[in-house]
Amino acid sequence: MRSRIALASARAAWGVDPDEGVVLAALRARGVAAEPAAWDDPAVDWAVFDLVVLRSTWDYPERLAAFHAWVDAVASVTRVVNPPAVVRGNTDKRYLARLADAGVPVVPTWFAEPGEDPALPRDEPFVVKPAVSAGSRDAVRAEPGETARPRALIERLHARGRTVMVQPYLDSVDARGETAVIHLDGVCSHGVRKGPILVPGAEPLDGLHAPEDLRLRDPRHDERAVAEAALAALDATGLAYARVDLVDDAAGAPRVLEVELTEPSLFLRLAPGAPERFAAALARRLPTREHGDAPGGAAAGSGGPGEAVGD
Ligand SMILES: Nc1ncnc2c1ncn2[C@@H]1O[C@H](COP(=O)(O)OP(=O)(O)O)[C@@H](O)[C@H]1O
Ligand SMILES: [Mg+2]
Repeated sequence: MRSRIALASARAAWGVDPDEGVVLAALRARGVAAEPAAWDDPAVDWAVFDLVVLRSTWDYPERLAAFHAWVDAVASVTRVVNPPAVVRGNTDKRYLARLADAGVPVVPTWFAEPGEDPALPRDEPFVVKPAVSAGSRDAVRAEPGETARPRALIERLHARGRTVMVQPYLDSVDARGETAVIHLDGVCSHGVRKGPILVPGAEPLDGLHAPEDLRLRDPRHDERAVAEAALAALDATGLAYARVDLVDDAAGAPRVLEVELTEPSLFLRLAPGAPERFAAALARRLPTREHGDAPGGAAAGSGGPGEAVGD
């Protein structure tokens, strides 16, 4: 029996992930059967997979409890990457406060639970967005002292029981963009520049994903160092995949905007060799087969943990 991997997607994001094709091809090239499956499709039998990889489950912010319950349920019948405990600690950006406490430079952030009324900056542009989010949905960029649009968003999010974040708008994004540092199997694989997304005066996006201007970018030394410090502080080194998004502050120093350990776009198609490195990281996490079974990921190289035991 060949090993079988599911790339977890969502019905609302079916066929949308531009990396899905290269990942499927790289896994199949290693002799691993791989297919997409929607996390919210009740007809899927997750136990038939040797590994379930969270990839384009991009609609979970609006139903977080159901998503965590699904991750736990799948983890009770097969292996999930990244692991459920990592996912639980990562879907809510309150981990930024833990990073700040650990001395990692983060974008200054104020959190406001439902019922709390956050002060809005009067002397600098700022961003209001939900603490649980993906795809730049429900975020607005406001001018100093602006109240109507940001307050309307805060009320709307709070009415749904969601925590709100307020941050200064770091305007280095407008010229330099943000830098995504992508780690595969605990090692920096590649970096990507993402152009600015939030337009002053615009209403929050309610589609699945804002359009993104992307290109490969070799992360600077200080960006690599902050990404590593962030992952270390979150006890998230050595995962199959991790993405740390960084924005320069006014002094030109990188600050963490987001650490994505759940379902990040990894921009694998942009980086030569990255789909194969990702496939190798997944193959290493396939469970070891019982003696007598055909090896899983037969073409997966030799000797890594989780490699099949043969005769
Ligand atoms: N404080 C900020 N300064 C500048 N740009 C921001 C800031 N917060 C968010 N943005 C912009 O909004 C986008 C989405 O915000 P982000 O925090 O990455 O949320 P998501 O989890 O939805 O990706 C970012 O890619 C960036 O372009
Ligand atoms: Mg982001």
